[in-house]
Amino acid sequence: PYALAGRHFLKELDFTQDEFRGLIELAAELKAAKKAGTETQRLRGRNIALIFEKTSTRTRCAFEVAAADQGASTTYLDPSGSQIGHKESVKDTARVLGRMFHAIEYRGDSQEGVEELAAHAGVPVYNGLTDDWHPTQMLADVLTMVEHCDKPLNEISFAYLGDARLNMGNSYLVTGALLGMDVRIVAPKAYWPVEEVVAQARELAVVSGARITLTEEVGEGVLGVDFVATDVWVSMGEPKEVWDERIADLGPYAVTMDVLRATGNADVKFLHCLPAFHDLGTKVGREIHERHGLDCLEVTDEVFESAHSVVFDEAENRLHTIKAVLVATLS
Ligand code: CP
Ligand code: NVA
Repeated sequence: PYALAGRHFLKELDFTQDEFRGLIELAAELKAAKKAGTETQRLRGRNIALIFEKTSTRTRCAFEVAAADQGASTTYLDPSGSQIGHKESVKDTARVLGRMFHAIEYRGDSQEGVEELAAHAGVPVYNGLTDDWHPTQMLADVLTMVEHCDKPLNEISFAYLGDARLNMGNSYLVTGALLGMDVRIVAPKAYWPVEEVVAQARELAVVSGARITLTEEVGEGVLGVDFVATDVWVSMGEPKEVWDERIADLGPYAVTMDVLRATGNADVKFLHCLPAFHDLGTKVGREIHERHGLDCLEVTDEVFESAHSVVFDEAENRLHTIKAVLVATLS
């Protein structure tokens, strides 16, 4: 992993399979060291800028705690607290921050934005989520899968249900393809990743041996899988008005106990990058419930709170995997 010094992480395919696996191994080592109280600081004196043009709980906290654990400092720039994109171009911002920081994390809508930043910063840039990709999330998901499944990585299977057109769907598809896994995208056709991403995944699969399935059939899609994953049906930045059509289109793809049973795997595990609408206890959740009388959105409370659910291990692993990225690219 130390061969990654100076590298950007803008999307999963910035890394080879070996590099991706190396980061997972490094994350597991860092996790064990932190738990044993034997972590050594390899990033003392480093300064990391965290640009968030969208809200965040996990990603921001993971970067801040990972940096602190390793002796580095962070500066958080929220959408209203910097000039980026409003008064100053991404290119100029990149050249300014590149003079002050050793690395920059960026979360925003556009993949072009994070790529522009990387092109001009002169220091490693990490994608903390764009509309297209969520690469740091994939490291956490793969670490969680490795921890919860005895099989070699390339024998693990997972099904992603729901809105697969955006970051999570795209990222799961190419990550599974890169690592040679059995990947199932289970969604109405209109919610599949765009053809270009599917083609990329199929090309990778030729080399990695990945099995790639895109299907509208839940039963066929989840049969035999080790993991079932989903994400919110309306992502950050999308207008509230799309809820009605999402509920109509994606309702049949909600992860319920019946879906878990349909896998035929009594030990199947459930993944969700979070935040999740599982208990309708949030403001949006309550509104949806009142308007549509639905008992669940993308996942039922029963599944979320069940022994199948490993979502909090997954959330914790954001810390260890983001730390691995920092250590690998900056030390
Ligand atoms: N999963 C994830 O990226 O969470 P946040 O939006 O809270 O960072
Ligand atoms: N698809 C979601 C992921 C959140 C971590 C979003 O973009 O809002």
